[in-house]
Amino acid sequence: MEIRKQSSLRGTLTVPGDKSISHRAVMFGALANGTTKISHFLEGADCLSTISCFRKMGIDIERNKDEILVHGKGLHGLCTPSGILDVGNSGTTTRLISGILAGQKFSSELDGDDSIRTRPMKRIMTPLNRMGADIASIRDNGCAPLRINGKNLHGIHYDSPVASAQVKSCVLLAGLYADGITSVTEPFLSRNHTEIMLNYFGAEVHSEGTTASVKPEPVLDGREVKVPGDISSAAYFIAAGLLTPDSEILLRNVGINPTRAGLLKICMDMGADITLLNQSTEGEPTADLLIRTSSLKGTIVEGEIIPALIDEIPMIAVMAAFAEGTTVIRDAQELKVKESDRIAVMVENLRRMGADIEGTDDGMIIHGGKPLHGAVIDSHLDHRVAMSFAVAGTVCDGTVDINGGDCVKISYPDFYNDLYSLSK
Ligand code: S3P
Repeated sequence: MEIRKQSSLRGTLTVPGDKSISHRAVMFGALANGTTKISHFLEGADCLSTISCFRKMGIDIERNKDEILVHGKGLHGLCTPSGILDVGNSGTTTRLISGILAGQKFSSELDGDDSIRTRPMKRIMTPLNRMGADIASIRDNGCAPLRINGKNLHGIHYDSPVASAQVKSCVLLAGLYADGITSVTEPFLSRNHTEIMLNYFGAEVHSEGTTASVKPEPVLDGREVKVPGDISSAAYFIAAGLLTPDSEILLRNVGINPTRAGLLKICMDMGADITLLNQSTEGEPTADLLIRTSSLKGTIVEGEIIPALIDEIPMIAVMAAFAEGTTVIRDAQELKVKESDRIAVMVENLRRMGADIEGTDDGMIIHGGKPLHGAVIDSHLDHRVAMSFAVAGTVCDGTVDINGGDCVKISYPDFYNDLYSLSK
């Protein structure tokens, strides 16, 4: 994929549906009684992996153009999978489904691609085992493939060492099948879509500070879910609009749940011209975002905001390289265990473009404002890396050539078309 410098980006876009919310709508729809109708569902490869897993467990899921119908069979309606559950590249599918599978009456196996086979699963195996689950890493390396023999589960309180919505959600979902209340406390609040949507489907989830708890055996009812645009996908157009000269981009209906919207705060700290229009607080909060070219300055990204922008850090690193002054990103060691080691991969590729960047144990230090030039980028098949460097390519001199650039299909199949649609 070759990206060239753009003189201006202008226009209006509706970014695809939120990935986290799309996964959960299918999962909770499958566990509900009756039909769940999902509009603006993300047709990315990760969410399609979730659909394929539930189909293998006997759930009828219809896919129309922009609408998904999940014909749920209730909390105890899943059946023994017709084969190994293929989670593809999706950490969310793996970790959330494991919570559901732990309390079933059947055994199952989960496996995925080379990247998923390196991602840490002990973080879910530890709390699930404490609940009485029987979950094993088949190669005994703490990663997928996983074998899960369904068991009767106990309610526990779990103090999670990581602020991870996947860990929290896994434990809460197992808690639906437990014999008492299950709660999770995390060091900082991670995205709370599971809590919001489980309540919407009829479960009793209580949140206080960084603790969420769930009552077992709820009756879930099929619902209509309108998925907002994914702020993690909007991030690339926010950055492209800010960095490209003479630009004005309107992004419609973007999810701005505070547990996800850390990027907006950091952009404002960097001096960005972003206006929120048409804000809505019905269900998940949303807004239209108006982005205009801005001169950015460096900032510090650390502490409790990290989980609210963890997937946007590759894009923030690129923005920081174009900004004046130094940006320090710390407390972000989770980046090392994403679809790639995002600290190493961002440092490697930004250096190829001429940036002054140093990797640390838990983040990066970027001395911005050095002129960046075109380069061959290795995406390491990480969708967020590929899209971040596509934005870098619209701003720098020369051509950015992204190896493995079609991995954007994981979360944003039409990404390059949408980017070029704004080109003037
Ligand atoms: C997600 C949680 C985050 C995020 C991922 C999606 C979710 O992962 O990085 O892209 O949908 O729950 P962690 O829970 O590992 O932080």
